[in-house]
Amino acid sequence: MEEIYEKIKRVVLDSGKIILDADRNDLGIESKEGNNNIVTKYDVLLQEKLKNELLSIVPEAKFMGEEENSDYKDAKYLFVVDPIDGTTNFSRGIKFSSISCALLEDGKPVIGVCYNPYADELFEARIGNGAFLNGKPIHVSDRELKNGILLSGCSPYYDDLREKSIMIHNKFSRVASDFRRFGSAVLEICTIAAGRAEVYCELKLMPWDHAAAGLILTEAGGKISTVDGKNVDYIGPTSVLASNNKEDYLKYIS
Ligand code: IPD
Ligand code: CA
Ligand code: CA
Repeated sequence: MEEIYEKIKRVVLDSGKIILDADRNDLGIESKEGNNNIVTKYDVLLQEKLKNELLSIVPEAKFMGEEENSDYKDAKYLFVVDPIDGTTNFSRGIKFSSISCALLEDGKPVIGVCYNPYADELFEARIGNGAFLNGKPIHVSDRELKNGILLSGCSPYYDDLREKSIMIHNKFSRVASDFRRFGSAVLEICTIAAGRAEVYCELKLMPWDHAAAGLILTEAGGKISTVDGKNVDYIGPTSVLASNNKEDYLKYIS
């Protein structure tokens, strides 16, 4: 597993160049299903590259990526990949996006690698082995929400979730000392893993938005669950409550 882990990290790190070198005058933006949901030609290009290279590391694995429907049922090993998390940021020149890659074994993440090429920050974890940022161990903070920072996800592609997202944001932000909205679920969860913020909540995410970052978070001492306190889903949509696990965050929103 160690050798596989190192190879996956290399593939993800190398792929960051595609984001940094993108031709900003020709992003090839197209609409996808949902409210203001877009894809660029770089999302597609990167996913193709990641798929080829990751499957050459673990040939028996299947592949789930945001930009492609594929058959990944009953896979012992499954790569779950978001080629660009924060596509709207990328398309608007807001330099805050990430490549995210998880390897699942029997339906659970065992390796997570998330790379923000703009900041050159590589977050990584292997199950049971701790979480790291650019090779140094990371840990969630000890702060309670009253001294902490809330990161708010608003499920932007789903109009029907807007009101409930705002309600949850209001409940948390009445207590939190401050709040932010980054536009990359992956980096929001990794930010909590690194002890830079305390809680993040979003009502509808897909496995590629949270599988890798969620492992990094739990390996850093944090917690990921649904907003009902259940296990998150690694096959279909799920809500996500990610935190430093220093108090019962469910009590603020129930
Ligand atoms: C989105 C981002 C955004 C979050 C959305 C995600 P994408 O992923 O993580 O911050 O609010 O729910 O779908 O579309 O940029 O890969
Ligand atoms: Ca995403
Ligand atoms: Ca994406």
